[in-house]
Amino acid sequence: MIKKVFFLFVSLWVFLLSMTDPETMTQVKLGERLFFDPILSKDSTLSCASCHKPDFAFADTVAISPGILGRIGRRNAPSVMNMASRSEFFYDGRAKSLRDQIHFPIEDPLEMDLSYGEAVERLKRNTYYKKAFFQVYNEDPTPINLADAIASFEESLETADTEFDAWMANKPNQMSPSAIRGREIFMSDKAKCFDCHFSPDFTGDEFKNIGLYDEIKYKDKGRYEVTKNPKDLGTFKVPGLRNVAVTGPYMHDGSFKNLKEVIEYYSDPSKFVNHPINMDSTLVKPILFSNQEKEDLEAFLKSLTDRQFFKHIR
Ligand code: HEC
Ligand code: HEC
Repeated sequence: MIKKVFFLFVSLWVFLLSMTDPETMTQVKLGERLFFDPILSKDSTLSCASCHKPDFAFADTVAISPGILGRIGRRNAPSVMNMASRSEFFYDGRAKSLRDQIHFPIEDPLEMDLSYGEAVERLKRNTYYKKAFFQVYNEDPTPINLADAIASFEESLETADTEFDAWMANKPNQMSPSAIRGREIFMSDKAKCFDCHFSPDFTGDEFKNIGLYDEIKYKDKGRYEVTKNPKDLGTFKVPGLRNVAVTGPYMHDGSFKNLKEVIEYYSDPSKFVNHPINMDSTLVKPILFSNQEKEDLEAFLKSLTDRQFFKHIR
């Protein structure tokens, strides 16, 4: 009982402090609060974090995350960490900046289903947010500062405390011989992973077709939906690979349940898709990795996990 009262007292104190002390409120903190607040969904049941789960590098653990009222979309929720250097957002690149991205999930009828204007109005009517936005932006909530706050929070989610980064920087590390061999394979002419997954975050923000489009099992046209250019049929944004060991299931539709399956796919795509349409030429001829190579590639991908997620590696 005494413990409970004490806890209540502390919570109240922290809450009051956050309300009164202008020094403590920042864009990032405000954005974090908004990211976790169901106020941005029509029936106030779903927040950004319902689909982008902090324990799993802000991705989801199911293939397709339910929106409000259990509505089912068609794509897998990716990690929203390591977004600061991205130039394309969503699998089809329909948003060009993090700030431009925010309104999509809020307005999507299958996700949060709230008009962006109404989201701003709700925040204006909320005494906590009215005050917090004034502290940070010196004005009421607006469409622009709402997006700015959430984007600032997302930009704070950069992760580089990994075995791979420590090894690269010649710092003490636990990079295994298998993971080191896996990196060699990843960069090699045989595997060509690095052709598409390059840069410090392992993506160049390009759109590529790895064969997951056949109009039978895989019907999502990807980037083509935005450009209507036949060259873009079945191409998807190359996802970054940091923390990939905790962000499964994989691919735009979450149809691959673990990294082993992903590596089997790259080894021989024809075992998964019979007649891929518009597949990237580098992947047409099966690579056929040995079992050792498969293990090594998996070990390398796991070495890209930030320390905070070690316990969630599967
Ligand atoms: C119902 C689940 C759901 C909710 C709620 C949700 N998202 Fe997402 N998010 C997704 C899915 C699915 C995608 C991929 C969609 C696509 O590529 O077309 C995505 C993509 C993104 C991306 C792009 C990542 C990339 O690599 O391109 C960002 C950033 C993002 N969401 C942020 C947010 C923010 C901010 C909110 C809250 C305002 C939010 N999401 C709410 C499911 C959700
Ligand atoms: C031609 C470009 C290309 C090459 C080569 C390539 N990838 Fe990919 N990779 C992609 C694209 C595009 C996607 C997303 C496809 C989708 O969602 O349908 C992807 C997805 C992935 C994913 C799933 C990520 C997630 O979050 O869902 C992993 C893991 C991966 N690739 C690892 C590799 C490895 C390992 C290699 C080398 C054996 C490799 N890739 C070679 C373009 C490429």
